[in-house]
Amino acid sequence: MGILIRGGTVATATDLYKADVLIEGETISAIGEKLDAQGHESVDAGGAFVMPGGIDPHTHLDMPFGGTVTADDFESGTRGAALGGTTCIVDFALHTRGDSLHNALNTWHAKADGKALIDYGFHLTIADGRAETMAEIPKIIDEQGVNSFKVFMAYKHVLQVDDETIFKTLQACAKHGGLVQVHAENGDVIEVLVKQTLAAGHTDPKYHALSRPVECEGEATHRAIRLAEIAGAPLYVVHVSSAMAADAISDGRKRGLAIYGETCPQYLVCDFSDYERPNFEGAKYVLSPPIRDKWNQNVLLRKLKNMELHAFGSDHCSFNLCGQKELGKSDFSKIPNGAPTIEDRLAILWDVGVNGGLMGPTQFVALGSTNPAKLFGLFPRKGALVAGADADVVIWDPNAERTISAKTHHMNVDNNVFEGRKVKGRPRFVYSRGTKVAEGDAFTGRKGHGKFQKSAKFFPVQL
Ligand code: URP
Ligand code: ZN
Ligand code: ZN
Repeated sequence: MGILIRGGTVATATDLYKADVLIEGETISAIGEKLDAQGHESVDAGGAFVMPGGIDPHTHLDMPFGGTVTADDFESGTRGAALGGTTCIVDFALHTRGDSLHNALNTWHAKADGKALIDYGFHLTIADGRAETMAEIPKIIDEQGVNSFKVFMAYKHVLQVDDETIFKTLQACAKHGGLVQVHAENGDVIEVLVKQTLAAGHTDPKYHALSRPVECEGEATHRAIRLAEIAGAPLYVVHVSSAMAADAISDGRKRGLAIYGETCPQYLVCDFSDYERPNFEGAKYVLSPPIRDKWNQNVLLRKLKNMELHAFGSDHCSFNLCGQKELGKSDFSKIPNGAPTIEDRLAILWDVGVNGGLMGPTQFVALGSTNPAKLFGLFPRKGALVAGADADVVIWDPNAERTISAKTHHMNVDNNVFEGRKVKGRPRFVYSRGTKVAEGDAFTGRKGHGKFQKSAKFFPVQL
């Protein structure tokens, strides 16, 4: 017996049409008008869109960072993801300087295996440019099914690497079918500004943003793109927060380069004034790059609409206010960086993008699912609603309303940067490889259901 999703409007990254969708086992077996319901369980998709499950290309689960460990692990993080309509995440395995990439990957496999409620893939970070590290890259791509490597231009003394390491990583990836991701902020300049800001007695959360000016992101984004240009390598710029950085990506693409940009929900609806919330609440918004002045939101939205930004990731990196963000109560530089956004990623994109009249459901699917699947080697098994693809399916009700709150979200964290925001549009049902994992507000899946998904080699897709 299969599951027949009836009466909905199929939304893919390119098309919108009325059809039924049949799931048999773990895959989609047929899509068509008025499919025969006999012998199948019927699911009502009337008034709803039937879409490929969301792919979140940017998460940090069970990650040590900022002197603590993220509040969400692979169980609670993927629970939030599933309830929000995401059926596959790509998480960052952290490489440690002097250690092997294989060890980093094994550590992350152990964190996810048996816990994840939905499927997952991995990116690797690169902590050093040793010959051994570079030599591992082709093996990781060919044998381990990881096709992307993140380099940090910021977080000095922690994750930051120099231009030599970035350049070598770009060359290795260009040669072997990898995609370099870059955290583009000038960490050296930020380090100086943070010290000067603290020396002047400024310790509140808003000084996190004031000591990481937008020019630091603009400069680093330009530099990273030029390095990619010299190396002849594709580049994916993660968590673009500002018009300045997004313009650098547009410039690179005008020069014909394979540059891709990602932005995140927090940059579309939060703004600098959130840092000034009383009672240390501004600490919720301490993430990097920081939240910018409000006018940047519209620029980022337009770039998404015009496909000058290509993917929508959450950059989910959750810390409790109580006991974790509080580490920086008297020094903003000690507040762990990050926010819980995995659950509400798609709701925010739908609300500001589709309800806001800037994009249609197809573009929503492209940004939130299909493009990430293509970039990270998961397409067409994931990110596609076609016969033969994994039955990762979301039935999205465009009229259902809710108010986002830490009191009701499904992540394991005591705060939400979208607290109090009313959104219209949410999943009615979510299927992961044919298993119903969410029904409205209820999680209906199983711990350990999620499986590691190998990424295919990267090739420069036209987005
Ligand atoms: O503040 C953030 N973004 N935390 C997660 C780490 C990163 O830079 O992506
Ligand atoms: Zn980053
Ligand atoms: Zn991140």
